[in-house]
Amino acid sequence: MTLDPYGDKELVELYDVDNPAGDDHDYFRRLADTIGATKVVDLGCGTGLLTRSLVTPGRVVTGIDPSATMLNFARRQPGAEAVTWIDGDASAIASTGDIDLVVSSGNTMMHIPDDDLPSALKSCAGALRPGGVMAFESRNPATRAWEGWSRQATYGERDTSVGHLREWIEVTEVDGGRVVFDAHNLFDDGRDAVYTTTLYFRAAAEITAALEDADFGAVTVQGGWHNEPATPTSRLLVVQAAKQ
Ligand SMILES: C[S@@+](CC[C@H](N)C(=O)[O-])C[C@H]1O[C@@H](n2cnc3c(N)ncnc32)[C@H](O)[C@@H]1O
Repeated sequence: MTLDPYGDKELVELYDVDNPAGDDHDYFRRLADTIGATKVVDLGCGTGLLTRSLVTPGRVVTGIDPSATMLNFARRQPGAEAVTWIDGDASAIASTGDIDLVVSSGNTMMHIPDDDLPSALKSCAGALRPGGVMAFESRNPATRAWEGWSRQATYGERDTSVGHLREWIEVTEVDGGRVVFDAHNLFDDGRDAVYTTTLYFRAAAEITAALEDADFGAVTVQGGWHNEPATPTSRLLVVQAAKQ
């Protein structure tokens, strides 16, 4: 049986432990401060760890995510009342044209299928004011990270708040930049919760073209959270674009 990777209440409880705040969160907060953002949208906000940290006096922050399980977790966290939470994908972003910054962290943009990407980016553009910024990261296809996603290479065991877990991931399909993998979560009672995820690896040129088609300009693609140039060995592509 395959399941929504973000639909399991037990595993969502572990998400922030597995994905703590780091340089990525600092980057998005610094960007919000630098451009003096007073209206920020976090697309694919998940558990809202970054979203809540973007709140400052006088800044309005909205978190949007299609996973009710992630969002329900987010809504229960300290400081959650300062954020407006919306169930949905990019189509749920209102075309107000007054947002200063749309962020999308944790490789969320890689979850958006190729067919849906143009409309998702257009929704973001419709929300932003002219000159407003969209920022996100995406794994660099040039490093072919999926080639290391085998059971043997990723297997691990640990004690968690939801019990002893044996975990691994395994790629099941690669088609161009579209990579499908199963994440196995084997509990002591023999239950193996298998979550299937599809990620879309996109090169810098592809991302730039998609943004330009969606009314963005001044696209920059860097190779990390500290202004590193993007190279074929950069693990991440860190993208910024301005609404025209
Ligand atoms: C890896 S998590 C990242 C969560 C959070 N942004 C972070 O940095 O921890 C990916 C998130 O993208 C959401 N997601 C999946 N498909 C999406 C889509 N089409 N549009 C927006 N969000 C999506 C998932 O529900 C999940 O919460």
